[in-house]
This record gives sequence, structure tokens and C-alpha cells, in this order.
Amino acid sequence: MIFIDACFGKETPYAPVWLMRQAGRYLPQYLEVRQNAGSFLSLCKSPELAAEVTLQPVDILGVDAAILFSDILVVPLEMGMELKFVAGEGPVFPKPITSQSDLDALNVKSAHKNLEYVYEAIKIIRQKLPSDKALIGFCGAPWTLATYMIEGGGTKTYSKVKKLLYTNPQFLHALLQKVTEVLKLYMEEQIKSGVNAVQIFDSWASALEESAFFEFSWRYIKELCAYLKAKYPHIPVIVFPKGISGYLDKIEGDFDVFGVDWSTPIELAKEKLGGRYILQGNMEPTRLYDKTATKEGVEHIVSVMQNRRHIFNLGHGILPDIPVENAKYFIDLVHSYK
Ligand code: CP3
Repeated sequence: MIFIDACFGKETPYAPVWLMRQAGRYLPQYLEVRQNAGSFLSLCKSPELAAEVTLQPVDILGVDAAILFSDILVVPLEMGMELKFVAGEGPVFPKPITSQSDLDALNVKSAHKNLEYVYEAIKIIRQKLPSDKALIGFCGAPWTLATYMIEGGGTKTYSKVKKLLYTNPQFLHALLQKVTEVLKLYMEEQIKSGVNAVQIFDSWASALEESAFFEFSWRYIKELCAYLKAKYPHIPVIVFPKGISGYLDKIEGDFDVFGVDWSTPIELAKEKLGGRYILQGNMEPTRLYDKTATKEGVEHIVSVMQNRRHIFNLGHGILPDIPVENAKYFIDLVHSYK
């Protein structure tokens, strides 16, 4: 698999490419399946349908890897928290964690067993996916998941979780440790079910000042990476802590690929991390609205990375109103640089 070779720094005929959020609403075929499933969560819980939408971008766009169709928030859901996806509002936990008894009630030992529908989807996908295409499994980073669990949904200020961070750090650490324990077993089961690589999404990393980032976010990502690499060294681990370009000097850990978000200059990521890790990313996702802007974005990244030690991707997820044709143009263009 070209994608896996690239994750380990082997030479490949071209830089492999996939898109974060590649299975999603910009594809009419996805919207049709979601409609039939009834809701986003029932789609996540149906292995056959989740497999179908996972494979769509491989067929339609020709990407080098599929990413499992699911959501990072199925983990808190199966730890026992009620979860709703409200149209136009995004995900909501109506009863967020506020007390020690909420923390104690979380299901740590068997959450990974409740996620059987994810492992079933992986088995179906791996059977249907061409053998030269990789399947990427994923989870949210402990910090990003804990933020959702405490805030109860999206937030602009992070005030509840940050208040806790400075007033009751032991409580936050206890929650982060519980989530980390579940994620170890969850990612392990994803690997046993057939994923070829895993990515850890830390979407809210940018909310933290440097010392807090290393204490409350990166530490747990590192713990998860070390656990997985010790047991499954042949499975590449990709980390994606979004928006931490100021802290790159201190990034180290047992992972293979560092996902560069669009706000971090690719030159800077190459200078700070390119010798130690394979880089993934990082075209500004909204460049896909325009083909000229896409071409300029791709050319810039190629000129810096020279197709070496690099996996192409956007610097965050593809937006729902991007024309499919433009996404396909991006993939074909990346593949044309041999
Ligand atoms: O990348 C893929 O194609 C695989 C599937 C995937 C989804 N979510 C499907 C999804 C992955 C990897 C995720 C990760 C995820 N989910 C993250 C981390 C990555 C990032 O974007 O920073 C986060 C923060 C979430 C939480 C989440 N799930 C949000 C904030 C939302 C709603 C926002 C929105 O875009 O409407 C979701 C819902 C969601 N997850 C959708 C999809 C395709 C849209 C649901 C729908 O209406 O069909």
C-alpha cells in the first residue's frame, strides 16, 4: 500500500492523498444513504451503511486511503453519555459532566465492547476495499473528547473545561485518564478488526496555552501512541493536534506521521518536524472552492515537500458545499506530480 509505505518514509511513486471528512455531506451519494439510515447516528451504528459511505470517496475521488466512517463522539456515547446531533447546531450532550458522581458513572471497562458496530463496519470495509488502498481508523484525542463531555457541545470560549483545568486539575486529569484507557482498548480493537493505520484527532488543541497543552492534551496522546506502537509497531500512528504551530519544537512521541493543520506554514512544520516525522497535510480547505487557488496551494506544498516524506491532505476537513468536481481535481493534480 502506497499510503502505508509513505507513513514509514519509504519511497513511493507519488505522494499519496486522502481528505479529512472525505465521507460526508459534499457527496450526494452520502446524503442519500444518510437519508435512508434515518439519522447520522443510526448511520454510524449500521455497519453495512457505514461501510458503504466509507467506500464512496475511494470510488468517486480515487483517494489512496479510506477513513472509517464514524464519529469521535461515539466514545463518550458508549461510556454512557446521551448524545444528540441537532441540525444546524452540531453535537450536543444534554447532560454534561459536572460532578464526581457523573465521573464515577462513566463506563470505562466495557465502553469498547459497546462499540462492536464499529468493528463490524471495519471488517466489511476491509473485505470490499481494494488491497492496495489503506483503511484508516481513528479516535478523538482525550482532551478534545473531554472538552465535549464537559462543555456539552461545541464552544467558543471553552470556559467550563478551562475553569476546571485551573481550579480542579485533578478532576480533569481523572476524566482524561478514563477516556485514555477506553481509547487504548478501542483503537486496539479497531486494529484487530483490520484498520491499516490510525489517526488521533485533537481538534481543540489550539484552545490551550503551551504548558496546559503539554499537561492536559499531549501527555495523553503520547500515552495512547506509546501503548499502540509497543503492541502494533507495523500500524502507523498519525497525530493531528490542530493549531499548535507555536509549540512544534517540543513535540515528540511514539508516532509516525504528524498532521499539519492549514494555519501552520508547511515550511515551519518541515523545519521543526520534517526530519523526525512524516508530514501530512496541509492545504487550506477553502482553496477547494476554486481550481486556480487549488492549483496554487498544491504547487506551493509540492515546492516545499518535493514529494518526500509527505502525505497530501487538507489542513482540516472538507466543507459540505465544496463541488465534488473540485475535490476530484485536487486528487488528480496531486497524483500528477510523480
Ligand atoms: O473523515 C471522515 O470522512 C470520517 C468520518 C468522520 C466524521 N467525523 C463524520 C461526521 C470523522 C473522522 C469525524 C471526526 C470528528 N467529529 C471530529 C474531529 C475532526 C475535526 O473535524 O476536527 C470532530 C471534532 C467531530 C465532532 C463532530 N461530528 C462535529 C463537530 C459534527 C457536526 C459538525 C458538522 O460538520 O455538521 C459532527 C457530525 C459529523 N461527523 C458529520 C460527519 C459526516 C456530519 C453529520 C451529517 O449531518 O451527516
